[in-house]
Amino acid sequence: MRLACFLLFVIMTAAAYGPAPAEAQTDRMVVASPDGRLEAAVTLTADGVPHYRLSLDGQTIVAPSRLGVVLAGGDTLGVDMTVAGVDTTLRDRTWTQPWGATQTVRDHHREARIQLSEDTGEPNPRRMVIVLRVFDDGLGLRYEWPEQPGLDRFRIEDELTAFRFVDNPTAWWIRAYEADRYEQLYRETRLSDAGYALHTPLTLAFPDPYGTPEAGPHMAVHEAALLDYAAMSLRRIGPTAFEADLAPWSTGTRVYARTPFSSPWRTVLVGDTPGDLVTNQMALNLSPPSRIEDTSWIQPGKYIGIWWAMHLGEWTWVSGPRHGATTAHAKWYIDFASKHGFSGVLVEGWNEGWDGTWAASGWDFSFTTPYPDFDLDAVASYAREKGTRLIGHHETGGNAPVYEAQMDTAYALMASHDVSVIKTGYVNYGMNFPRITAEGDTAREWNYGQFMVNHYRRSLEAAAEQEIALNIHEPMKGTGLRRTYPNLLTREGARGQEFNAPWGGGNGPDHVPTLVFTRMLEGPMDFTPGIFDLTATGEGADVPTTLAGQLALYVLLYSPLQMAADLPENYEPHMDAFQFIKDVPVNWAETTVLNGRVGDYVTIARRDRHSADWYLGAKTDGTARTVDVPLDFLEAGTRYTATIYRDAAGADWQANSVAYVIDTREVTAADRLTADLAPGGGLAVRFE
Ligand code: NOJ
Repeated sequence: MRLACFLLFVIMTAAAYGPAPAEAQTDRMVVASPDGRLEAAVTLTADGVPHYRLSLDGQTIVAPSRLGVVLAGGDTLGVDMTVAGVDTTLRDRTWTQPWGATQTVRDHHREARIQLSEDTGEPNPRRMVIVLRVFDDGLGLRYEWPEQPGLDRFRIEDELTAFRFVDNPTAWWIRAYEADRYEQLYRETRLSDAGYALHTPLTLAFPDPYGTPEAGPHMAVHEAALLDYAAMSLRRIGPTAFEADLAPWSTGTRVYARTPFSSPWRTVLVGDTPGDLVTNQMALNLSPPSRIEDTSWIQPGKYIGIWWAMHLGEWTWVSGPRHGATTAHAKWYIDFASKHGFSGVLVEGWNEGWDGTWAASGWDFSFTTPYPDFDLDAVASYAREKGTRLIGHHETGGNAPVYEAQMDTAYALMASHDVSVIKTGYVNYGMNFPRITAEGDTAREWNYGQFMVNHYRRSLEAAAEQEIALNIHEPMKGTGLRRTYPNLLTREGARGQEFNAPWGGGNGPDHVPTLVFTRMLEGPMDFTPGIFDLTATGEGADVPTTLAGQLALYVLLYSPLQMAADLPENYEPHMDAFQFIKDVPVNWAETTVLNGRVGDYVTIARRDRHSADWYLGAKTDGTARTVDVPLDFLEAGTRYTATIYRDAAGADWQANSVAYVIDTREVTAADRLTADLAPGGGLAVRFE
């Protein structure tokens, strides 16, 4: 029976994929990218176990790797399977993002839906569909479990999807299941020397066969559309082979499911250069279209806030003599925001619940009761009078039950004060995120298991009801859901600027050129750039960039909400450099990566969505370098005034971090831009 089906399938495959007689003879189902360079093949072994393989330009890059899931009781769905049918489709469509690093997104892929059925001889064999979408720059693969008599409610105890890489590429990785979520410094090793449990995105660089330093195939493993499932990390099963590892519930089960159900997409991004990974849009294309019909109220913007002073230890979140969130402080920040055109002012520590051990699970937070020295009505209306808005703050301590109980009233309260963005926070560690069980007990979960994945989604949906957008700190990783919920404006999810504060241990000068090619593949990050007082902690050069390097972050680390993170008084002596922060847009028409090597350096140019202006950011690690790039991204024949914010001669992140120079020059697309980057330095340019 299995053989008959398979032969039938092979014949169908030959027809479906046009003239590929060689493939038709090899017992494989093959689907190629629109440009033909990337090819995914699915095979069934003699015992009916599905595997996939991926090749680029005819060379295998992912060797045959297993597919399937293990259900409750160790029952594997993914053995004794036969092919019941295959449908293929070629799609080419373009859609527009309400905000983004690009305005339009092209979704161009070839899809194969491979319908598998268990060959058990039983009357209602279980069915599972493996869907492959092959883009020119990567593979998306997922499981679908259609509604069927033999499978209704089910539990996934393990996922068998494997990634068997050929060769031993260089890998940039952080560990999964660590206490500090995703907030680790990336390590660079050969893949065989990476850890045993890795978060995604996992970025890989293969040696370039032609020896070109910035080229050579780059890949990243990640996932898309994580909507109602556990996040996938990668569990080592061989020197260069990994298997999907789903974050478990406290019950041990990984995913509770009911048909019809589907997994997120497992993605393998593929590029000729590391920059190709940065501009890859597969996760957006694989995520469902917006569930919010009118998105006009979702506005990108720039903000300042009562924030860094707490991280420096000058003010406190808790009540008392150094309380940061006072009415007077807030009004002073609002005046500064109003004077310099910031659309929002964040105030952290305004609400009751911080006193005591807030970071030990947030049981005491009230999201509707301000501290007595913070007059919410007065501050919010003062902000509106001054042409800016309050940005709300809900630190939950990772306590979803406490937050969900208050969410609707808390969002309504903020909406009634004209707040359109709330920063939420989930400071909690490891598998310690409270959940109230059906018996009323408190269980503890991971913040990227299915329970919290669903919590983050509920919070986005409840916020959207009140026309509120979110900036989530300590979030689960990004998987393209900003398309589905465009009110998910930005998130943290890595070591941001705050780790350069006295408590954080510092990020190191290679952190940003690493983040661009690792964490940033997930989507926007609220890194909170713009520290000008780079030695504020009094222990030498604590912020590991130059001042020009801080400006570059506004272009390099994409976020539709960008903070000017320093204290207003630290901007006053450098108003000329501050002008770049005032000018730089947060919503882009297009993005191009001009050069880069993971962990070493990167240059990105982006075109403003609301003008013809371009902006460029470049950053190096601890090594001084020269940026030398053609300006052929500019419109041909147009003259631009380039305002160049660069490191001064002798600048150095450790010894002389504030030394910068601002030049202006007329340029055209025919010119090149050359500038020296100091150790830890950077470059920021506005082309008007
Ligand atoms: C951690 C967040 O990342 C940070 O931005 C915030 O200030 C603190 N939590 C307090 O909520």
